[in-house]
Amino acid sequence: MEKPLTVLGIETSCDETAAAVLRLDESGPRVLSDIVLGQAAQHAPYKGVVPEIAARAHVEGLDGVIAAAMRGANLGFADLDGVAATAGPGLIGGVMVGLLAGKAIALAHDKPLIAVNHLEGHALSPRLAGPGATFPYLLLLVSGGHCQFIAVHEVGIYRRYGSTMDDALGEAFDKLAKLLELGFPGGPLVEKAAQTGDSTRFALPRPLLGREGCDFSFAGLKTACAREVERLGALTQQDKADLCASFQAAVLDIVADRTRNAMRLFDPVWGAKGRLVAAGGVAANAAIRARLEALAAERGYDFIAPPLRWCTDNAAMIALAGAERLRLGFSDDLSFPARPRWPLDDEAVRLRPSHKPGRKGAKA
Ligand code: KG4
Ligand code: ZN
Repeated sequence: MEKPLTVLGIETSCDETAAAVLRLDESGPRVLSDIVLGQAAQHAPYKGVVPEIAARAHVEGLDGVIAAAMRGANLGFADLDGVAATAGPGLIGGVMVGLLAGKAIALAHDKPLIAVNHLEGHALSPRLAGPGATFPYLLLLVSGGHCQFIAVHEVGIYRRYGSTMDDALGEAFDKLAKLLELGFPGGPLVEKAAQTGDSTRFALPRPLLGREGCDFSFAGLKTACAREVERLGALTQQDKADLCASFQAAVLDIVADRTRNAMRLFDPVWGAKGRLVAAGGVAANAAIRARLEALAAERGYDFIAPPLRWCTDNAAMIALAGAERLRLGFSDDLSFPARPRWPLDDEAVRLRPSHKPGRKGAKA
């Protein structure tokens, strides 16, 4: 690598307004600043993320968050080598706010824009923490909107092995929390309640367990929880804790079973000792991390997951994805659209010379 690359990352695809500055050189990425402004309080009364409230909150918060990230890095915009902004997938109003801000900074300061796929940010996030996550690795990406296994061959080359057929895992956690009136965001609250619950009290289904492939399905599990709630009527704290514990036990069995099958697909890619990487908000769950770690040890894999603050949405991972793309010579045109849907496998397409949404070596 000729010279270090310093990139501002902007993330606004869901309910975190985030900006970070990262420097990438031969020794790897170094996060110079990392600011996340959560919106949980604004969404809590609605027990879920309200897209319009999210977009408005991004508009109100983003300037200050970017200024804080630049101040934290002790840099001016002129010192940047590029501006990376999430361009999707996500809630379109929020994505537009962050992408437009990124475009404006890139244009005003004559810097390249890198339109980043949010999923690529999560996919590369374990590399923020140190040199452990070297390519290739098997990625379990589990967040509020996504639940998939991806073979990460290198930056820009991703192959999806399986996805959810209905709900994402984070969504299933959030829906259970809503059903039990635990509060918002649901995942951490379900995890906490599960710690004091009896995981054997409710016999919940484990959809697709023992079946071929590594797709997921959580709809049946969610419906079974709803049926138990209906049957019990008024719920005690202990009922709630037991249901959370039983739900989480089912999730652990499903995740372990599906991961075992994904490893069978990944083994021929890697051959010797593989690496299993978990990323996305649900990867913050200690019980899931522990189960994956045990499975990895059993199968001779290394297990790597980012520190908790880089599991949930953040801009350091967007800055990293942007810097890596910039290093490869890619930047994007200012006309790059906000994409509410954008499968990660498309990234491989973006790297093919015959396909030109990314301009090699171009300044936006
Ligand atoms: O990656 P993320 O911050 O946003 C998306 O891109 O979706 O993930 C948020 C999701 C939410 O569904 C949240 O409930 C879940 O991750 N989550 C958890 C935990 N922490 C966050 N789920 C289970 N256990 C947790 N500790
Ligand atoms: Zn995310």
